[in-house]
Amino acid sequence: MAEQKLALPKDFFIGSALSGPQTEGEWNKGGKLENLWDTWSMENLDDFYNRVGSYGGNDFMAKYKEDLVLMKELGLDNYRTSIQWSRLLDENGNLNPEGAAWYHELFRASAKAGLDVFVNLYHFDMPTYLFRRGGWESREVVEAYAHYTDVAFREFGSEIKYWFTFNEPIVEPEQRYQEGVWYPKLHDYGRARTVQYHISLAHSLGVANFRAAQAEGAVRADAKIGMINCFTPTYTKENPSEADLEAVRMTSGINNRWWLDLITKGALPQDVLDSLKEGGVRLPVRAGDAEILAQGVVDWLGCNYYHPTRVQAPASKVDQYGLPHFADEYVWPDAVMNESRGWEIYPEGLYDFGMDCAKNYPELEWFVSENGIGIMDEYKNRDEQGRVIDPYRVDFVRSHLEAVSRAIADGAKCRGYHYWGLIDNWSWSNAFKNRYGFVEVDLMDGYKRRPKQSAEWLTKVATSHVIE
Ligand code: BG6
Repeated sequence: MAEQKLALPKDFFIGSALSGPQTEGEWNKGGKLENLWDTWSMENLDDFYNRVGSYGGNDFMAKYKEDLVLMKELGLDNYRTSIQWSRLLDENGNLNPEGAAWYHELFRASAKAGLDVFVNLYHFDMPTYLFRRGGWESREVVEAYAHYTDVAFREFGSEIKYWFTFNEPIVEPEQRYQEGVWYPKLHDYGRARTVQYHISLAHSLGVANFRAAQAEGAVRADAKIGMINCFTPTYTKENPSEADLEAVRMTSGINNRWWLDLITKGALPQDVLDSLKEGGVRLPVRAGDAEILAQGVVDWLGCNYYHPTRVQAPASKVDQYGLPHFADEYVWPDAVMNESRGWEIYPEGLYDFGMDCAKNYPELEWFVSENGIGIMDEYKNRDEQGRVIDPYRVDFVRSHLEAVSRAIADGAKCRGYHYWGLIDNWSWSNAFKNRYGFVEVDLMDGYKRRPKQSAEWLTKVATSHVIE
């Protein structure tokens, strides 16, 4: 007997996510100011794969009309992008009319193409002039972000229904301040937590501004505000010790619970704050902060899911700077890897996330706001027509959608799915190394778009809601 295919609810939406800094290009045109990606590209292009810096994105500002049509043709009804802070405001915090005009035009063209736009306000794109005033380590920048959100809500409030304060607020603390991966490449656990704390305040001030603008009628009455984070369900060894479980508690506490508590309870998890304090990490808490954080409760959540985290008890409880170290990586012998990106492929993690929410945050509605697979040297696998042949992309998305379908059947309030990067785009310092798209971007042919083989499968699923 043929195996029963799983399905997704009829009102479950399927779309795609992208971001301003990874697609728009025109980095220094139309009054756009430098952000940290531009600065890093100028200071050290060798840090970027094949020396491709931030400047071009995937040429979206030139190609958006054809891209929107393509999205629709491939069966999608909505997509997410981000407004670039460095394009919308000038150095004095005033609206840049050319930047505002671009986003108005994009939203108008999207509506005309029949696509709802989900708008995110910050996607790792700190304006450089604000970084020079302290970046997320500074309260002044937290205030500047709050001002930026207020301008954006009021400027586009009648056009946009789905708003998000941040994409993956855990990533900048980790990549820029803790792991030394992204500019300015620091290794400082304490500064990373300061950044994380300040971003939490910034998020909460953004939500408060949204509520105020909505109450005044400057934002549509049916609009919703959310946050998007990359959640990494956290696992340890079989038969773990107490210390292994403790490593799970703190790892998940910092990466997952911190944000889930903030957006559902308007507070940060006390056990995590206590452990940080015991470890000597001082957060820059001021009187009145608890009231600010209390305003951070959102209407729904975006969950970016790529891979789980596996940890074990740390060999040493302090790092080389004397700061606390709560967990070591645990290499699971059975892990299936995407070798191009070095990320484990584990669809069950998405099911587990859904069950965790259903149990611990039962009122919370959410959607998969990013999920995808980036593959190196994809251009080498082509059929006779020159189409990229990418069965692994179908396998990846199918297995994750099946996990979502099972989670929904078991009580998860998951409302939709966005694939990361329908059309290949610029991936930070990896540039165009790993391709995510269902549509290829040919860098040797003026960023030309060409659907890959997998695009046919996507269209079938997006239009039928049956997981083929
Ligand atoms: C998410 C980000 O972390 O993953 C995207 O929101 C990013 O901006 C995507 O591009 C894929 O990761 P990467 O590093 O391979 O581009």
